[in-house]
Amino acid sequence: MKILIIGGTGFISGYLLRELRKKNYHITLFNRGKSKPFIPVDESVRIVAGDRNNPGDLKALINDEAHFDVIYDMTAYTGQQSQTAVDAFYGKTGHFIHCSTVSVYMISDDLRCPVTEDQDLRQIMPFFPRNPFGMNYGIQKRDCEKILRDHHHPVNFPVTMLRPTYVSGPGDPTLRDYFWIERILDGKPVLIPGSGDYSFQQVYVEDVARAFASLPEQPQTVGEAYNIASEEIFTLNEYLAELGNLMNRKPEIVHVDQDVFDHLPFSSNSRGDVFPFNTRRPAIFSLEKIKRDLKYHSTPFQQWMPELIQWYTNRYSGHSIAYQDRDAEVKFASNWSGDYLKLKKAFIHE
Ligand SMILES: NC(=O)c1ccc[n+]([C@@H]2O[C@H](COP(=O)([O-])OP(=O)(O)OC[C@H]3O[C@@H](n4cnc5c(N)ncnc54)[C@H](OP(=O)(O)O)[C@@H]3O)[C@@H](O)[C@H]2O)c1
Repeated sequence: MKILIIGGTGFISGYLLRELRKKNYHITLFNRGKSKPFIPVDESVRIVAGDRNNPGDLKALINDEAHFDVIYDMTAYTGQQSQTAVDAFYGKTGHFIHCSTVSVYMISDDLRCPVTEDQDLRQIMPFFPRNPFGMNYGIQKRDCEKILRDHHHPVNFPVTMLRPTYVSGPGDPTLRDYFWIERILDGKPVLIPGSGDYSFQQVYVEDVARAFASLPEQPQTVGEAYNIASEEIFTLNEYLAELGNLMNRKPEIVHVDQDVFDHLPFSSNSRGDVFPFNTRRPAIFSLEKIKRDLKYHSTPFQQWMPELIQWYTNRYSGHSIAYQDRDAEVKFASNWSGDYLKLKKAFIHE
């Protein structure tokens, strides 16, 4: 089987490549050659250099190859990028598999948990810049899905989409778990925005890679979209308690009202998620469909998280997102008594 991965050297697509390598496939990667492969790529894998934002590069690839049995598009973030892929590959692939996200749901406030796949077109909420699932990101990933839905054809362009929730594992460029692991490790108070009582799901990267890799053998998935998440559901409080247990630490947790927190200078950062997994509302996704069609089961947290903790503590040399503000966090946590007025003057810049 001839497989193309658009990407293949990053986090999720790197794990996907590792899964696909276990099968007897001819694999081509298409990327710019900028990212250092997280999972080593051996010479049996063909690498074609190109930028997907340059339509000529994708067309040159398909002129060269004529047809791919399966194409994985792991790096489409805008409708234009998906359209370019449709233009290049329509009629030239047996299965087009798109990496989407649960953010296509989380830009709506008209949702019912557990969120089923058919809630993907619910009305978009008023623009909320602090949407923890990314407002623009979710809107643009919806645009990708719309282009693919509009061009889906059972023979000429058979499309399947997977919608992962927060993906975790060694090599995660977002460092979400490390945010909490590094703060638990330093032994100082750990701030939680709000009550920490909202339920959410992560998903282990190897579970995502296995699900993607199984799709070529599952023709019934053509034309379908699937949520993929861990079967385990935690609140942020429960997640931190579990992490603490695995690390033999009992962090001092300090909850701060969400509206106060949102005014704190260290509550946001342009580099990425700050205080990850603070979903601000329940974020539970139905797994019935993926269990039914792919016989999906997630790896238990107790099994994969110790490896991730080890990886961050032994192999990762940098700091977590916003750790440069850690002193300010600790100072705030040590002084926070729930007295908003008293603290407003000292900490909050409006
Ligand atoms: N991380 C999460 O929690 C999460 C959750 C839900 C969904 N997702 C989805 O997962 C996908 C991203 O996963 P990821 O961050 O792990 O990355 P990834 O899938 O590994 O993608 C990065 C790869 O894409 C290549 N690439 C980037 N820009 C390119 C371009 N313009 N042209 C050609 N190749 C390009 C990179 O190589 P070069 O840099 O060398 O080009 C690298 O091989 C996205 O579709 C995202 O929406 C992620």
